[in-house]
Amino acid sequence: MSNPWSLTSWRDKPICQVPAYPDPEKVAAVEKDLRRYPPLVFAGEARRLKKELAEVAEGQAFLLQGGDCAESFAEFHPDNIRDMFRVLLQMAVVLTFGATVPVVKAGRFAGQFAKPRSADTETIDGVTLPSYRGDMINGMEFTEEARVPDPSRMIQAYNQSAATLNLLRAFAQGGYADLNQVNQWTLGFVSDSPQGHRYQDLADQLTESLAFMAACGVTSDSIPQLRYTSLYTSHEALLLPYEEAMTRVDSTSGDRYDTSAHMLWIGERTRQLDGAHVEFLRGVANPLGVKIGPTIKADELLRLIDILSPANEPGRLTLIVRMGPDKVRQVLPGLIRAVRNNGRNVIWVSDPMHSNTVASANGYKTRHFDQILEEVRAFFDVHEEEGTYPGGVHFEMTGQDVTECVGGAQAITEARLSDRYDTHCDPRLNASQALELAFLLAEILKEGRTRDRNRRRAIASS
Ligand code: TRP
Ligand code: MN
Repeated sequence: MSNPWSLTSWRDKPICQVPAYPDPEKVAAVEKDLRRYPPLVFAGEARRLKKELAEVAEGQAFLLQGGDCAESFAEFHPDNIRDMFRVLLQMAVVLTFGATVPVVKAGRFAGQFAKPRSADTETIDGVTLPSYRGDMINGMEFTEEARVPDPSRMIQAYNQSAATLNLLRAFAQGGYADLNQVNQWTLGFVSDSPQGHRYQDLADQLTESLAFMAACGVTSDSIPQLRYTSLYTSHEALLLPYEEAMTRVDSTSGDRYDTSAHMLWIGERTRQLDGAHVEFLRGVANPLGVKIGPTIKADELLRLIDILSPANEPGRLTLIVRMGPDKVRQVLPGLIRAVRNNGRNVIWVSDPMHSNTVASANGYKTRHFDQILEEVRAFFDVHEEEGTYPGGVHFEMTGQDVTECVGGAQAITEARLSDRYDTHCDPRLNASQALELAFLLAEILKEGRTRDRNRRRAIASS
């Protein structure tokens, strides 16, 4: 794009999904405060993530991106952060050990507070109020007072993100994520389930491998890689005044980074080529994601890629595909070919959640676990057919024992949705369903690697 970018150039573009703040001066005051707050992440970390994502783009690693649909102020609690982290660690270890693939771990947390909505207002029993847009914008309660957008919520979101990130860093670097702790990560309610037993088997094998390596002198004292992990943060960059205020020039490189998270993505509803969100994000050097639904056309996608990743640098851009299983099979092959034939470097990731949201008979917004797995399978099948690499998954989950998605080995039924339905927005996988997804992914990835190996052998011997 030839137009010059500036920190505020997005303000002249058409914008979707903006809250109607009653008092613009208050917004400006909050932005001013945020501009002098410390960055939440360091640019060097975002650069390292981009490097790791370049390995994903080249088929050498796998991206695991998961977490809350929407973080909430009310559920801010160290136990919730810890439990989410535990499930992510379990999923990562299932993939790293089970499929022997390096896993890049990115959380949907420490900043995932703003939600796009399909309608600006919500009507209940004849009363119409502004829609809930996430805790950093307004309150979820259905009262006039709560639904007025309040800019000071940005400050609270910043503070909660900082504290969340602080604890996650401590867990990742402080010994909690040591591979020798693999048995400590199972949550109580999962341990006595089929997934819990399956995990236990894997943990036992890993522990034996570690014991063998320790006998050879390789321990988590001698090899820090066994003791530490890196957990990156990501969220949808929806509320641009916040993202703008968090964007700083990195003194090392001179580049601009949005320091609210390591990676930012643009949603399906805000990815207009000439829109404000695309304009803002094209100017920051972080790794970016963009959600891709079934209606996008190949030429539109190519233009989007050119705007967001003009240097075509591997690791810069991740396309997060959310289409539903049927559309993945029908629409994705054409998009993959267009991208490949034009030599664009992107990472393809499957979001098997967002096109599989349905209403249950008893009025809950839910997702069927079978459909989620179906979309993952379709995504991997299509890449296998096209000879391209399925680089990762993007999903919504929680470490709590919720009943929001139906199915899975626990066979949650529609009737049980009301037991523990806690989400602020979309239905999330619970810990046991998330583990089940990880085991399926590990199997598919392992098959893919075996196929590649056999293919190479066949070529070598022919
Ligand atoms: N450092 C490696 C990694 O993060 C290995 C590792 C350490 C690990 N702790 C882990 C892998 C916990 C998965 C889960 O990949
Ligand atoms: Mn969601």
